Amino acid sequence: MKDKINSLVSELFGVDVDAVLTRPDPKFGDYSTNVAMQLAKPLGQSPRDIADKLADKLRTDGGFNEVVVAGPGFINFRVSARSLSDSLPSNWTDNYGENNDGAGKTVVVEYPSPNMAKPYSVGHLRPGNQGWAAKRLMEATGWKVITDNHLGDYGAPFGIWVVGFLKFSSEDALDQDGVYELGRVYIETKKALSDEKERGESELADQVQEWLIKLENGDHEAVKYSQKFNQISLEHIHKVMERLKISTEYELGEAFFAPLGKQAIEKLLETGVAVKNPDNSIIVPLDEFGIDVPLLVQKSNGAALYATSDLATILYREENWHPDRVIYAVGSEQQFYFTQLFAMAKKLGITTELIHLWFGFIDQLNDDGTREKMSSRKGVVLMEELLDKAEAKAREVVAGRDISGDDINKIALGAVKFSDFTADRRTNILFDWDSIFALSGFSGPYVQYAAVRVNKIIRDGGEVTKDFGEYDFESEKSLIVKLLDYPDVVRLSARDLEPHKIANFLYELSRELNRFYENTRVLDAEQSEKSARIDILDKVSFVFNHGLSLLGIEVPSEM
Ligand code: ARG
Repeated sequence: MKDKINSLVSELFGVDVDAVLTRPDPKFGDYSTNVAMQLAKPLGQSPRDIADKLADKLRTDGGFNEVVVAGPGFINFRVSARSLSDSLPSNWTDNYGENNDGAGKTVVVEYPSPNMAKPYSVGHLRPGNQGWAAKRLMEATGWKVITDNHLGDYGAPFGIWVVGFLKFSSEDALDQDGVYELGRVYIETKKALSDEKERGESELADQVQEWLIKLENGDHEAVKYSQKFNQISLEHIHKVMERLKISTEYELGEAFFAPLGKQAIEKLLETGVAVKNPDNSIIVPLDEFGIDVPLLVQKSNGAALYATSDLATILYREENWHPDRVIYAVGSEQQFYFTQLFAMAKKLGITTELIHLWFGFIDQLNDDGTREKMSSRKGVVLMEELLDKAEAKAREVVAGRDISGDDINKIALGAVKFSDFTADRRTNILFDWDSIFALSGFSGPYVQYAAVRVNKIIRDGGEVTKDFGEYDFESEKSLIVKLLDYPDVVRLSARDLEPHKIANFLYELSRELNRFYENTRVLDAEQSEKSARIDILDKVSFVFNHGLSLLGIEVPSEM
């Protein structure tokens, strides 16, 4: 359609354009274009005159129906369903919806980057979901994607663990409860540390520092503890990521980068990018970027910081991966920090596009109707508990039916992940168990169910030909229009890193499909109609699969 309009414009007016098509209120037409307004200036004619001339041409030469000029020069028109159907790619390949906008470019996507000291909590649910979706969107738009899990595995937690382990725990307890014991010890020790601080003492705090120094000096016992705790923690992180069905290619954490950061700081001092304070701490002033809080890159005692390893991380990625873009999937709490970090990168002359892909909190609804950040009686909500509960809920949804564990798992994850994409990522999402599983609402299981149902109809339809005869495709028209929208939805969603646009689209597609079933018979339709309908449903099924996979969600085989 676009090509047709472009060529008619060049025939009529002798200029090249790239017409933009939008979808007006269906009352007015199937599509609308403002190309006449675009041309007014270059042609020196009124948009209305251009629109009138072009509309005539569209009516007579273009096969467009009900062409109407509206307002200052919009052209609304309808197109026959058959011609829309014919404009869907005929060889429907695996990459419908995808494009090559990012061809030749490399992006690093960083997620979920949990911290080692504690069990995986819902605090790292959104980094995983949003990071994964960003990776998938970049892949679908032709970028070369490198993924990296920037583990929080450096610094104080190690010292706290050893001190706490020796004081409050035992090998037995650790063997039994693994990372949950480490988490418990961590919390108990933090508490003991703050109590002692209140008393004006520092015995434990000193021990924590001693262990950190021992570790830095490669002391045998310290290294042994460190390896043991890290292994327990890492195994747990991997297990949870596996349950979430997310993974990364690299896993270079803070501990890997911290020492490199300290070396880099020496250079920054030489070049004057960083300055040493009288107390020996080192900062990078950022006034020239309108940021009056400098970035602290080294503590007065010489210890590396979060920013120290992020500095090294940036340099390392530049040197080894040469990315055009780096995406950090990290919550909104760190917005200011990333503003500082990216300013420092600019100061270092790094021109790579650095994006903080931030998102709001996960809220819950309390019994009294108030809304607050998700938590449990014990404090944080543990990811494994959340996933267990989601699986139990998924079982309820398919109650009584014999559904495989694998499918249950897909439904559970579908509900949990989709909820992350029901609104713009920058808003807080409301995590409400009933609505995320609602089979009649804007939920993962609702879309999954639509996909499962369409797959069943396709299966029941058996072999069909591609011979549609003179069939007009009118009953499938709104589905076809949705299918034609999909590539644009992917493009915009990737451009703005806004996966909720995919979720919205899939929800609308599901609703369109339900309307279709209400009015149309598929399996007992006459041969060419049946073939035509199954052909469209096949394409719908593909788009469900593809779109959901961009969100990290799979279609169950049954539900
Ligand atoms: N581990 C950090 C946290 O949980 C997130 C790391 C984000 N990435 C980074 N390069 N700073 O808060």
